[in-house]
Amino acid sequence: MAQLVGGLATSHIPAIGGAIHKGLQQEAYWKPFFDGFPPIRKWLGRVKPDVVVIFYNDHGLNFFLDKMPTFAVGAAEQYDNADEGWGIPTLPPFKGELDLSWHIINTVTEQDFDLVTCQEMLIDHACTLPLKLFWPDDECPVSIVPICVNTVQFPLPSARRVYALGRAVGAAIQSWDSSKKVAVMGTGGLSHQLDGERAGHINKDFDLKFIDSLLTNPEWATQFSIHDLVEKTGTQGVELLMWLGMRGALTSNSASVRKVHSNYHIPISNTATGLLALETAELSSAT
Ligand code: DHB
Ligand code: FE
Repeated sequence: MAQLVGGLATSHIPAIGGAIHKGLQQEAYWKPFFDGFPPIRKWLGRVKPDVVVIFYNDHGLNFFLDKMPTFAVGAAEQYDNADEGWGIPTLPPFKGELDLSWHIINTVTEQDFDLVTCQEMLIDHACTLPLKLFWPDDECPVSIVPICVNTVQFPLPSARRVYALGRAVGAAIQSWDSSKKVAVMGTGGLSHQLDGERAGHINKDFDLKFIDSLLTNPEWATQFSIHDLVEKTGTQGVELLMWLGMRGALTSNSASVRKVHSNYHIPISNTATGLLALETAELSSAT
């Protein structure tokens, strides 16, 4: 069976794409953000996952307000990026892991999750930039299964539901008949509000508690309603649901994880940026 090796989580601000393109990683503004990545890249270089299952939220590139699925899973050979209007250079296509896509779709649907299946799916900055941050080489060495969660148009799925989806996805990965190594990823957050009266709202205390909870008590955030989360973390802060999906996947058959590395830095754009890498107990005991 496939081996679930660990989980990754990072913020996904569009301006990161411009910073990478212009080579600004060592500039004072960007350095505290980019400096979080080398220890995780080192771990990835050792563990060498073949596939990444990515919980992310589309921001209007593939789904718009007229048709907004709660959960959509990609089942394509290849995922194209496209111009999103943020001034980010468009990245070359990413390779899909079709067999795992359908295995996840079939297994998770049997467990009463109602998914939209996408045999064509454009992936936006929330999917492409984290891949570039963790694997900066021109050729991305991993294939992907994108799982898109609505955080854009109300009603949004609850933290409890996204965590449960993550658990089901994790169990599906572990029952996939393959010798491949699989990592899970969640992108977004942490606290941020881009517009309205509270634009610039940051809640460092909550963010740090949230990151810590993913190590010590992963269900902690499932106590909060979407409105609680918006109040605490800002309208776009609800993107932290993606981190919960990632963490749920790691809990499918073993609760314990080891922290590889984390980082937290304020501000990039209007956001508090977070970064986390977790290794599964299965991998720790195998190495
Ligand atoms: C910004 C942050 C996001 O998470 C996003 O998806 C778009 C923009 C920002 O801070 O600019
Ligand atoms: Fe976002």
